[in-house]
Amino acid sequence: MTTRFSSVLKSEVETPALCLNADALERNIARMAAFLADKPAGLRPHAKTHKCPTIAWKQLEAGAIGITCAKLGEAEVMARAGIKDILIANQIIGGAKIARLLALASETRVITAVEDAAQAAQLSEAACARGLRLRTIIEVDVGMGRCGVLPGESALALARQIAQLPGLQFEGVMGYEGHAVMVVDPEERRRVAEASMAQLIETAELIRSSGLPVNIVSAGGTGTCEVSGCYPGVTELQCGSYATMDAKYRSVGIDYEPALTLVSTVISVRGSDHAVIDAGVKALSNDFGMPEVISPMGWVVARLSEEHGILERREGGEALHRGDRVELLPSHGCTTINLHDAYTVTRGDWVTALWPIAARGAVR
Ligand SMILES: Cc1ncc(COP(=O)(O)O)c(C=O)c1O
Repeated sequence: MTTRFSSVLKSEVETPALCLNADALERNIARMAAFLADKPAGLRPHAKTHKCPTIAWKQLEAGAIGITCAKLGEAEVMARAGIKDILIANQIIGGAKIARLLALASETRVITAVEDAAQAAQLSEAACARGLRLRTIIEVDVGMGRCGVLPGESALALARQIAQLPGLQFEGVMGYEGHAVMVVDPEERRRVAEASMAQLIETAELIRSSGLPVNIVSAGGTGTCEVSGCYPGVTELQCGSYATMDAKYRSVGIDYEPALTLVSTVISVRGSDHAVIDAGVKALSNDFGMPEVISPMGWVVARLSEEHGILERREGGEALHRGDRVELLPSHGCTTINLHDAYTVTRGDWVTALWPIAARGAVR
């Protein structure tokens, strides 16, 4: 659901406001779609970044083949918004979660990741009890050191086990090169990402050579899409941050447009070098460092408390007064977005809509 405004200026919006420049967002979506248009890999954007069905639909309208989610709860929100093809790129563990997963799979085309034979057997049993065949891909750890089986023989053994389970449909493999996406040196980033993709593709080939079809080979993040999106054998990408962007990705040279900003108000000043805004860690995450002040120039965020952001003036920074607006680029879009109920959507100087961040907080 979208609320429309006709005459609210961005400069008058109540703060803190998580603002989304719709033109920049749409250009980012179009740019990624154009990049992949002549490549074999499709795009299944990660909705854990924006958590917003309105944006997911824009990505689908631009040609995305489906969406990716990190959590079952996110997938449920997206499915309720009518999205029909969802990869949950994560491990779903425990009876209650499996019951929800199967309820979702009975209405929507869902693919879930698995990493273990006992887990696969449990999913199969539950799927059989509901008369379903659950689509699954094996998560392969291609160097990030998070979830997943090791590439090669371990993945092959699991693929063979899954293929024999009546409630499961084996679809392929995924391997997220998350340890590469923010490597600062572009050449090193490429090298690390290529090494990951080589492991993933070799694993897919090994499984194929055993006679099992591998339909899906899924990988990719915003920082490495130019590697994984061109790597022979990768069938789909899971990039998320490219749509909204953030300061961390900008700092490693990724030049998708910063569509997401946080508009705040100065609530306190002391002297000419110290100002406090009405946004702290309850409005701006700092897991990737401090947000960046983009307007006015010449100020930095020194620290954040719950509801306050303490700014320090740098050489050349213009004076701030109580009531002034300060616009910031979140350091990490995904975790900042999760703090807000809605985007204040802007075009030029005007607020044009409020888009609910419907999957905000959907961590279950
Ligand atoms: C499994 C998985 N795939 C894809 C992504 C997309 O990453 P990005 O936001 O860098 O595009 C992430 C991000 O954390 C992820 O965890």
